[in-house]
Amino acid sequence: MLDYIKTVDKLNSKVLAINGCHDASVTFVDRNHKLRIFEYERFCKIRYGIYKQEADNTVIGTNSKIREDFIDYIKSNLLEEPEIILHSELEHEDIEFLRKKFPKANPILMGHHMSHCAGAYWQSGFKNALVFSLDGGGKDYVSENYVDFRSYSFYKFEDGVDTFLFSSYEPQSKRINPGIYGFFGYFCSEITKKTSDVDESDKFCLSYAGKIMGLSAYGKVRHEWVDAIKKFYCHTPIEHWNNHGQYIQELSDGMGVKLKKNCFTGQDSWDLAATNQYAFEELCFDLVKPVIQKYQMDVVFSGGCALNVLFNQKLAEYLRERGLRLYVPPYPGDDGISFGHYTFYNRVRVNPGPYCGIDIVDRDKLTEYYKKYSGKVQYSSVPTIVDLITQGKIGGIMQGYSEVGPRALGNRSIICDPSFPEMKDILNAKVKFREWFRPFAPVCREEMKDLYFDNAFPSEYMSFAPNVKTKYQETLTSITHVDGTARLQTVNSSQHKLFYDILGEMHSRGKPSVILNTSFNIRGKPILTSIEDAFYVLENTELDFLVIENLLFYK
Ligand SMILES: [Fe+2]
Repeated sequence: MLDYIKTVDKLNSKVLAINGCHDASVTFVDRNHKLRIFEYERFCKIRYGIYKQEADNTVIGTNSKIREDFIDYIKSNLLEEPEIILHSELEHEDIEFLRKKFPKANPILMGHHMSHCAGAYWQSGFKNALVFSLDGGGKDYVSENYVDFRSYSFYKFEDGVDTFLFSSYEPQSKRINPGIYGFFGYFCSEITKKTSDVDESDKFCLSYAGKIMGLSAYGKVRHEWVDAIKKFYCHTPIEHWNNHGQYIQELSDGMGVKLKKNCFTGQDSWDLAATNQYAFEELCFDLVKPVIQKYQMDVVFSGGCALNVLFNQKLAEYLRERGLRLYVPPYPGDDGISFGHYTFYNRVRVNPGPYCGIDIVDRDKLTEYYKKYSGKVQYSSVPTIVDLITQGKIGGIMQGYSEVGPRALGNRSIICDPSFPEMKDILNAKVKFREWFRPFAPVCREEMKDLYFDNAFPSEYMSFAPNVKTKYQETLTSITHVDGTARLQTVNSSQHKLFYDILGEMHSRGKPSVILNTSFNIRGKPILTSIEDAFYVLENTELDFLVIENLLFYK
């Protein structure tokens, strides 16, 4: 994808960036002069974790000890003490706390969408691009005292110079809040089933968006609902907050259904999911197509809505028909906001890729488990891993720094062979315990994507959903969603050598060169990053084996 400057300009190790709201993260330069992004959720073990005092003891907040431990952990990784702290979504007390930890540093307030856009652009490698972000809303600062709350922003970047085009805030702009996509999950009984504390109290619908996207494949668009659903989208986030009851009533009246939590079951809920996806795509295309047609530039797309792989796929195909390219970054959601702060401020063209997250936090425990598993541990090798998965075994992989973003991409992954017909159900019954309707993702070598998939784009970060070729839909049932799509990850040897080599070994054995990859976590928790948690999964589920760096542990 990179076509402009492949090398990293000089990183500024005197700058640390932090976003404190949900999916909080910190970006900084580490002692090896590498840019790192630490997601708070991985450290506090609460999905979408908020880093600020105000959220302490709430469902996705933490407490003062964990917040302090996190900053101390980051301090232990810093190349040098920061002189500037770029921040967003922090309150006065949080900034005072950081100033005590970093007495030399001056705080600078940063904006939300400008950071989504800047992070994605500077990472894309594109020289010139139309850059936009769509999400459920974030604060952009016109001045220290003046805040816009925007659900989208459009910029043009030309050779590193950014020009703001427009946002949801200007009076003449289309009013749309695409971030309410997941809200429709409240009405679907399959989605509101309690699977964790986060799901139960998910007022941001953060866990619902991916679920309802998965469910949408089962449904049919109910055209009689489309207008009412579109109308519901077409308000600003502030209007949604202020007039929630009125808009729900209008939605109920328009759909002819008395809406309340769980009011849709079975086919009706699938149809609602499909209609929601349809309305979302139409509204997003209505918003972006005129801008694309006007500027005729490659596109960089960020914000939480860029996690909608179904829309991404259609947008990429639309652009390709016009000779244009699409870049979606590995962390388009708010977990990438601190990275956006950093790149916006430093104007540095840098792509740390996905594997720049938190390290395995308890490496010292490996010796303890090595002793405990005496006789059931050996050096790991690619042929051994392939032996195991082609026997139908399911394994956890933990190596190096964690991937940043919501998708496991091979460093904190559970893998298996998707050519076993019942593997999706086996994986759910034994290890993952996910809802029946959620698909599992495949990985294949980048150069073999067109063998297995139609209309596939290079997809290092699982950003797109091409169709599985008809001849493989029968044999790769566990990664083929009911609509024939798959949220594909493609790899080359420099992106993920272990996956690349496993895929090569499977090919050499005459197997489909595709593996199933899903996130390695304890049920209801974020992607894990401690050896202790990895062994918890091994010992408390029917996971068959565990690879930690170069060691392979059996049951
Ligand atoms: Fe956002």
